Amino acid sequence: MADLDDLREGSRFGIGTPVAKQDPFYVKGAENLSWGAKHRLSRIFNPKSGRAVMLAFDHGFIMGPTSGVERIDLNIAPLMQYADCLMCTRGILRTSVSPTLNKPICMRSDAGTSILTKLNDNVIIDIEDAIRLDVSAMAVMVAMGDPDTEATTVANLYRLADQGHKYGIPVMGVTAVGKDMARDSRYFCLASRVCAENGASIVKTYYCEGFANVVACTPVPIVIAGGKKLPERDALELCYKAINDGAAGVDMGRNVFQSECPVAMIQAVSALLHENLSVDEAFSMYNDLRNDATK
Ligand code: 5RP
Repeated sequence: MADLDDLREGSRFGIGTPVAKQDPFYVKGAENLSWGAKHRLSRIFNPKSGRAVMLAFDHGFIMGPTSGVERIDLNIAPLMQYADCLMCTRGILRTSVSPTLNKPICMRSDAGTSILTKLNDNVIIDIEDAIRLDVSAMAVMVAMGDPDTEATTVANLYRLADQGHKYGIPVMGVTAVGKDMARDSRYFCLASRVCAENGASIVKTYYCEGFANVVACTPVPIVIAGGKKLPERDALELCYKAINDGAAGVDMGRNVFQSECPVAMIQAVSALLHENLSVDEAFSMYNDLRNDATK
């Protein structure tokens, strides 16, 4: 029971003062989502810059311990503090991410086949586990154009979005591009739009020529995957171009954790996104931090 001693009657009712106005919600396409979903999105996308640096290290769920993710505790843990959001599987979350870190999690929420057989023949997670893990978003693969898995993966997104909307957990559609598919803006426009139309609140896709069209036709924020490892300056340029064309962030893995100096790279990417650094400025920041780290 609260202490009732000296309980004072309220008097500051602000009669005549209109109710304080709230700004429109800043994440693209999210105005009509629930409070919980907006709260989770605002943990991922920085409310000041509107952007997000997501660190992806879910590669092991289909590839095993590839270069850079052999030891999450050694290779990835030192980078986590610099990311706005961590993208990983539930196995890595439970075993290798401290619950005291207080970073939003975009959990890889589908699983099935690995690179040893055929990709993307996946099922989705039980939503109760996502709730137990208090994740801020759930990521699901969508294999547009793959005759074997397109229908299943779109249905996975659709079902996960149903569950996510029920509990206020946004879903991120991850566009999986088959080896033989053209990586052009026509394809990415279609893939990204299908994800958004089927319930994704974030779309993860790849940068391409004509990327501004992909952003324009997709009514939710787009974050780009980094893809295969590039020289650091090229990777920073990729981030710059994507942001310049309207991407709301990056969800990068290999270009960070396979960098010569991952801890410098993630800070340079973050400064490029949140402090609007140019490519040259970000690259020079990377070099300075790398030199400091090797002293
Ligand atoms: C695989 C993924 C990966 O997390 C994604 O591709 C990001 O990693 P990278 O920047 O290494 O491409 O979503 O489906």
